[in-house]
Amino acid sequence: IGFDFFTKNAMLKHTHMALIVTPDIIPTRLTCQTMENIKALEQEKRPWVVAHRGFRAQYPENTIAAFEAAIGVEADMIELDVCLTRDRVPVVIHDETLDRTTDGKGLVSSHTLSELKELDAGSWFNAEFKGESIPTLEELLLKIKGRITVNIEIKPESFEAPAPADAIEVQVCEMVEKLEMADSVLISSFEHLFFAKIQRWYRDQHKLNSIRLAPLQKVSLGDDFALALCRRQNAYSYHPDECLVTPSLINELKTNGFQIFPYTINDKKRMEQLIKWGVSGIISDEPERLWK
Ligand code: G3P
Ligand code: MG
Repeated sequence: IGFDFFTKNAMLKHTHMALIVTPDIIPTRLTCQTMENIKALEQEKRPWVVAHRGFRAQYPENTIAAFEAAIGVEADMIELDVCLTRDRVPVVIHDETLDRTTDGKGLVSSHTLSELKELDAGSWFNAEFKGESIPTLEELLLKIKGRITVNIEIKPESFEAPAPADAIEVQVCEMVEKLEMADSVLISSFEHLFFAKIQRWYRDQHKLNSIRLAPLQKVSLGDDFALALCRRQNAYSYHPDECLVTPSLINELKTNGFQIFPYTINDKKRMEQLIKWGVSGIISDEPERLWK
């Protein structure tokens, strides 16, 4: 979609040159050095390619294989879903239950991490992915650190009020800070109450809130509501269902300093339309299609 829109030429030339000189260098590693930092991405002045649950169209979602594949096709950011195990470890999985994407059954939150690690999270998609496991958030972050930016979506089912000391949002912030990855991370959620809790955590730590926040929205309440929501949550970006996006919404948000990343767009024509309208990026199961 826009080789002219996605100004990628210089990067590709650089990659190819390096390949000629040292053929054993994996091209993605070179490219990724330019993509680990959100501020650096902003300088690119083009829509970002956000790989939804990794390269979900061709790999089992939310597995290391899917995230490595997203890096392999030079996505700018990976999106992942996180929730808590019974022993309160943040793990990367979309559904509340194990049934669809693993060979296990029942609630994720009824299983300990060691029980979950016994499960196969790849075969349901294709036998060639047998042996993929449910990653912990920490494993995933360690794997991608310095290589790509990441949108961590905290699932609403994990929201707890009053929040215990090891609430999911606290664990996510502690992990991101411990790994010094705040510049690579964008935290989103449909549960907007997480954001006030994250901001309070930062205040309590006497730290500046350096993590970027993004309300997800699946029901339209109008452009003014979206803008008010972003202001109230001190958001970095707004992540609406793609069917809620209009040129006026994009304009309203962008002129007020907010980015807009709709989800989930796999259709080429719709990608083209949204890019023309001026979205900041697209969350897609087909990250490679966005470059074409
Ligand atoms: O973050 C965008 C998108 O992932 C939100 O919906 O259900 O795919 O997590 P869902
Ligand atoms: Mg998600």
